[in-house]
Amino acid sequence: MLARASIVILLAAGFASSAVRADPLDAAVGKALFDRQWIPAPSSTNGTDGLGPLFVSRSCTGCHARSDGAHVATREDGTQDIVGAVVRFGKADGITDPFYGLELQTNAVPGLEPEGSAHFLPELKYTLNGPALGAGIHAGVRLALPLFGKGAFNDVPDDEILKRAAANARDAGPVKGRANVTPRGVGRYGWKAAHVSLEEQVAHAFAFDIGLSSPLFPLPYGDCTALETTCLAMPNGESPDFEGRELSSQMIGVVASFLKSLRARPVTEESRLFAATGCASCHTPTLRTKDGREIPAFTDLLLHDMGRGLDDGVGEPGVKSFEWRTAPLISGRVPPERRRYLHDGSAATVAEAIEKHSGEAEHARGLFEALRPDDKTRLVDYVNGL
Ligand code: HEC
Ligand code: HEC
Repeated sequence: MLARASIVILLAAGFASSAVRADPLDAAVGKALFDRQWIPAPSSTNGTDGLGPLFVSRSCTGCHARSDGAHVATREDGTQDIVGAVVRFGKADGITDPFYGLELQTNAVPGLEPEGSAHFLPELKYTLNGPALGAGIHAGVRLALPLFGKGAFNDVPDDEILKRAAANARDAGPVKGRANVTPRGVGRYGWKAAHVSLEEQVAHAFAFDIGLSSPLFPLPYGDCTALETTCLAMPNGESPDFEGRELSSQMIGVVASFLKSLRARPVTEESRLFAATGCASCHTPTLRTKDGREIPAFTDLLLHDMGRGLDDGVGEPGVKSFEWRTAPLISGRVPPERRRYLHDGSAATVAEAIEKHSGEAEHARGLFEALRPDDKTRLVDYVNGL
C-alpha cells in the first residue's frame, strides 16, 4: 500500500532532481524509499520489488542506519562487527573480478546462493561460495559513509574543486591533491570520489548494494556477472511504470532530495590548531557552492596519495589503489565509541586514523605527533565534535 501511495505522490509532486534545495515533500517520499525493505520480483506490489537477485542489504538503512555511516554492533555470539561495510574486489587499475564483479554479495533472493560471507572485526575475513578470485584481484573493505551534509557536495561547481588542485600543484609543499576528472564531470562522492553527482551515487548504491536497476544503471541483475548464469536466470522487477527499469529517475531524484535534507552542523569555530597542524590543507573546512553558500565540508574533494599503508590493491577506473578522497570530517550521529575510521575501518579512534596518515599527509602526521598531549586531546575533541 505504501508503495502505491508513494508513487501517486511521486507523480503528483513534479520533480526537480537537481534542485539546489530539498523540497520537503520530495524529501519525505525519498526517506520512505531510503527506509524501504525491498522484496524480490515478481510481487503483487510492483513498486516495492526488484531486490537482487544478489544483494548486500535490502535497504539503504541496512548500511546507513539512521542516515549515518557504518557503526560497530555486537553480534549474537557477543563479539563485535561493523554494520555497513562491504568487500570490494578489483585490481589496482580498477578491473573487477570476472566472476564476483565489483562487490561481495552476501545475500540472495530465495533459490539463489549468496556469493559468500564476511566479517570485518577484528579484521577482514571472508568466505566465497564460488570459485577463487581471478588472478591479480584483491579484496578491500569500504565502510558506508555518513550522509549528513553530503547532499550539498552536489552543488559544488567543478571549478571550486579544480582550483584547489591547481593551488596544490603550484605550492612547494607535500600536499598534491588531484581531482578525479571523468567524462561526466569532476567526481566527488565515495572514498575514491568516483561519482560526479548525488543521483549517480544513489543509483549506483541501488544497483550494486540492493540490486535495483534505474536509467543511470540499467542493471536489473545488479552486480551479477556474465559468469553468474543462475543469477541471470532469476526474474527481475523491471516495469514500464518506471521507465522500463526497477526504479525510475524520479525515484532516484527523491532519494537525492532526502539526502539534501540531512544537514551538517554549521561550522561555528574554525580551529587554529587544526590549521596549524596541517589538517586543513586537505580537510578544507568549507567549500563554496554555485549559489555562493559556504557549506561545511572538511574535505577538498581531491584524491591524495596516502602511502602504502592505506593501499589495499583495489583501485577504481582512473583512481589508484593508494589514492583516497580526503574524508569529509562531518560526524553524523554515531557516537565516537561506536565508530570506526578510514575506508576500511582499521582505526578505532581519530588518533589512530591520524597515525595511519602517510604519503602526502606524512608531514601533518609528524606535526600531530609533536603536539603537546593537551593539544592532541583538544584537536581530537575538535574533530569528534564536527
Ligand atoms: C551494503 C551497504 C550499503 C547500502 C545498502 C547502501 N550503501 Fe551507501 N555507501 C556504502 C559504502 C560502502 C559507501 C562507500 C562506497 C565507496 O566509496 O566505495 C557508501 C557511500 C554512499 C554515499 C556517498 C557519501 C560520500 O561521502 O561521498 C551516499 C550518498 C550513499 N552511500 C547513499 C546511499 C543510498 C541512498 C543507499 C540506498 C539506495 C545506499 N547508500 C545504500 C554502503 C552502502
Ligand atoms: C594530504 C591530505 C591530508 C592531510 C594533510 C590530513 N588528512 Fe586526514 N584524511 C585524508 C584522507 C585522504 C583520508 C581518507 C584515508 C583513508 O580512508 O584511507 C583521511 C582520513 C582522516 C580521518 C578519518 C575520517 C573517517 O571518516 O574515517 C580523520 C579523523 C582525519 N583524516 C583527520 C586528520 C587530521 C586531524 C589531520 C591533521 C593532523 C589530517 N587528517 C591531515 C587526507 C589528509
